[in-house]
Amino acid sequence: MEAIKVRSDMNLIPEMNGGMVAANGERRKAIKRPDHIKPLPNKEEEVQDSEAMVGETQKSQNVWKPNVFYSQGMEMFCFAGREINIRESLDSFGALIWPGAVALCQYLENNQERFDLRDKAVLELGAGTGLVSIVASLLGAWVTATDLPNILHNLTFNLHRNTRGRCRYTPQVAELTWGLELEENFPRSIYHYDYVLCADVVYHHSCLNELLLTMRYFCRPGTTLLWANKVRFPTDLQFTENFQNAFSTTLLAEIPQEDVKIYQATVLAPKSPKP
Ligand SMILES: C[S@@+](CC[C@H](N)C(=O)[O-])C[C@H]1O[C@@H](n2cnc3c(N)ncnc32)[C@H](O)[C@@H]1O
Repeated sequence: MEAIKVRSDMNLIPEMNGGMVAANGERRKAIKRPDHIKPLPNKEEEVQDSEAMVGETQKSQNVWKPNVFYSQGMEMFCFAGREINIRESLDSFGALIWPGAVALCQYLENNQERFDLRDKAVLELGAGTGLVSIVASLLGAWVTATDLPNILHNLTFNLHRNTRGRCRYTPQVAELTWGLELEENFPRSIYHYDYVLCADVVYHHSCLNELLLTMRYFCRPGTTLLWANKVRFPTDLQFTENFQNAFSTTLLAEIPQEDVKIYQATVLAPKSPKP
C-alpha cells in the first residue's frame, strides 16, 4: 500500500493576512478554524431522529455485524436507526472505510448509556470517509470531523449526504494534520472536546509520534478518547504501549474475528505525593 505523504511545513512564515509563506516562497492558505461554540440544536430533526433510533436500536441483534447491503464504490450501513451511504474510492487510505470505523460505530450504538454522545462536543481525528462522524452526529453529538486536506472533499460530501435534515447538530469538517500547528488552529483556550474519536489511525505510517502528540493535545481533563484499531504490524503494538503510558486506559472491547480492539483513554491521574 502506498504510504501517506504528509507535507513538511517547516520554515513557514506567518503573513499579515493569516496565510503562510514557505522558505521557497510558496504561499499556503491559512486553515479555516472550525466553530468552537456549540450552536443550538436543530429541534425538528431531533424529534424525527429519536423516534427512528429507538425503534431501530431495539431491533439490532447482532453486535459486531452491521448490515452492509451493497458494495461498489458506495457502501450502505445501518446504524443509529438510519441507512448510511458512504462514497468510497481507491485514491487514498482516507477514501476507504476501515474495520476500526465499523467496530467503533457498532460499539457507540450499542453503548449509548455508557457513552452518551447527545449534546457532546466530539472531535474525530483521521475521519476518512466520515462513517464514525456520521454515526456520532446521528447519536446527537456536535461533531467536528478532521483529516488531511486531500480527504476533506469526499468527507464533506459523505457527511452532508448522511446528516442533512437528520441530526441534532450539523457536523463540521476541518483540516487537521497530526502534530501540526495545533495551538494555532485549535487554541487550547477556546477548543475543548468531550470526546475524541479515532478509528484505524494506527497503521504503517511515519506520523505515529505526531498522532500520539495530537491525541494528548486534545485529550484534557473531562475528555474521553475512544480509539478503535485493527492490529496489523509490530509498530502498532509499540504505539499501543506508548498510548497506554500516555493515558489512563481501559480496553473496552475486542472483536477477535476482525483483530480490532477498542480502547478508552482519559488523562493520567496526577501521582499522589509519597508519604
Ligand atoms: C486507515 S484510514 C482510516 C479512516 C477512517 N478513520 C476509517 O476508519 O474508515 C487513516 C486516516 O488517517 C488520515 N491520516 C493519515 N495520516 C494523517 C496525518 N498525518 N494527519 C491527519 N490525518 C492523517 C488519513 O487521511 C485517513 O483518513
